[in-house]
Amino acid sequence: MAKIAVVGCGYVGLGTAAVFADLGNQVIGLDVDATRVERLQAGDCPIFEPGLEEILLRNVQAGRLRFTTEYAEALVEAEFAFICVSTPMGPHGGANMRYVRQAARSIGQHLAPGRRTIVVNKSTMPPGSGDLVGALLGEEISQDARYAVVANPEFLREGTAVQDMLHPDRVVLGATDRTAAEAVATLYQPFNAPIVITNLRTAEMIKYAANAFLATRISFINEIAHICEALGADVRQVSQAIGLDKRIGPHFLNAGIGFGGSCFPKDAQALEYMAAVADCYPQLLRAVLDINRAGRRSFVSKLDRMLGGLDGRVIAVWGLAFKPNTDDLREAPALDIIRELISCGAQVKAYDPAAMPNARELLPGIGFCSDPYEAAAGADAVALITEWNEFKGLDLGRVHSLMRRAVLVDGRNLYDPYEMASLGFTYRGVGVPVVEALEGEPEEVEVQQLVSGD
Ligand SMILES: NC(=O)c1ccc[n+]([C@@H]2O[C@H](COP(=O)([O-])OP(=O)(O)OC[C@H]3O[C@@H](n4cnc5c(N)ncnc54)[C@H](O)[C@@H]3O)[C@@H](O)[C@H]2O)c1
Repeated sequence: MAKIAVVGCGYVGLGTAAVFADLGNQVIGLDVDATRVERLQAGDCPIFEPGLEEILLRNVQAGRLRFTTEYAEALVEAEFAFICVSTPMGPHGGANMRYVRQAARSIGQHLAPGRRTIVVNKSTMPPGSGDLVGALLGEEISQDARYAVVANPEFLREGTAVQDMLHPDRVVLGATDRTAAEAVATLYQPFNAPIVITNLRTAEMIKYAANAFLATRISFINEIAHICEALGADVRQVSQAIGLDKRIGPHFLNAGIGFGGSCFPKDAQALEYMAAVADCYPQLLRAVLDINRAGRRSFVSKLDRMLGGLDGRVIAVWGLAFKPNTDDLREAPALDIIRELISCGAQVKAYDPAAMPNARELLPGIGFCSDPYEAAAGADAVALITEWNEFKGLDLGRVHSLMRRAVLVDGRNLYDPYEMASLGFTYRGVGVPVVEALEGEPEEVEVQQLVSGD
């Protein structure tokens, strides 16, 4: 069993530490945030991630996992040091490597002498970062400490992080020294997943390409949804039917207000930035990001049109996290949407099952409610932004009776337009039929208009 240091105890670092410890390795998690480390030492998981707290506790109690703020303590015995610090979006869209640089320098200063430590870059880093980390380590090491750098991008999804780590579709390892990549591969052997070994830059690029592709699928279906809405088609059925084509597949084809989170927006943006700097013309990535930004704006416009203006209106926001089963608000559509609603004079009452503690700091001036009914009470409209399971089982008749006006704008197509109409709601989804219009005068676009050139 290996001795592993995990540097950075956020979503990725904690998942990595917990899962490797659960496999029997000796793991020590390190973070510069002393409060976070104190909480972890006390058995209190600082993030909301289903199943994580249990697995952390189990391994802390078994003596296989501990936490520290001290690099010396974390690295003294480590054979592997995983860098899992954040790489947020920089001011021009490129990845901000500040935390990676700091972590690499600190690791270099504390590498154990007399043997080799393998430094594993798990954070998402631009191609070339493996060389950068290697150079920083080289500047800092003393005595006869030796090191190798391996790129090992992480593909877990927040909300299912533990399961994703336990059952990866593949493990990607990039290195100049193949023996180092093979040593990291042994850590992953129990997962029984395909392992792709390549060079550093290719491994780093694989992560960006994967995220950019998934973001492209989302923006693609959102563009189709927009066209469906204009032409009276139902994007839900379009998605289902195209997803049945084995060449296309069903994933990442749910139309909605677009992607957020700590990865897709920043990684697509960073790839666009890198491509532009390298004199490539990343036109598809630009379109993907534009469509995504437009989704937020058109959601607010829809509310505006349906309410005849937003000034003075009370809007109940259901869901703040960038997706269900997480408390993460990074790049969450709810933040932009709520700020825009407030700037248009609306009053916002919000409810989210997990993200409200984080949201309080980011969204001063809005009301936070203890459940979705309290949020809806007296509201002119409900804006559904995150498709938490909790919202699927609500008593919508009760919601209707509590609202001042029964308008519901569904940014995730969680509800069925026909059912909502039968309950008396004025309902709008994304790319789905407007039921009142279909029951009355059909809003059909003249066929003649669509077949130009005939
Ligand atoms: N969150 C995801 O779903 C996900 C998925 C795949 C890849 N990634 C990538 O993994 C990386 C980490 O993401 P995250 O969401 O876990 O970030 P995070 O912000 O949740 O956690 C990062 C942690 O690193 C700590 N830290 C910062 N500088 C440090 C230093 N010098 N030494 C030690 N600790 C330090 C911070 O205090 C924080 O606790 C990013 O590059 C991200 O793009 C994230």
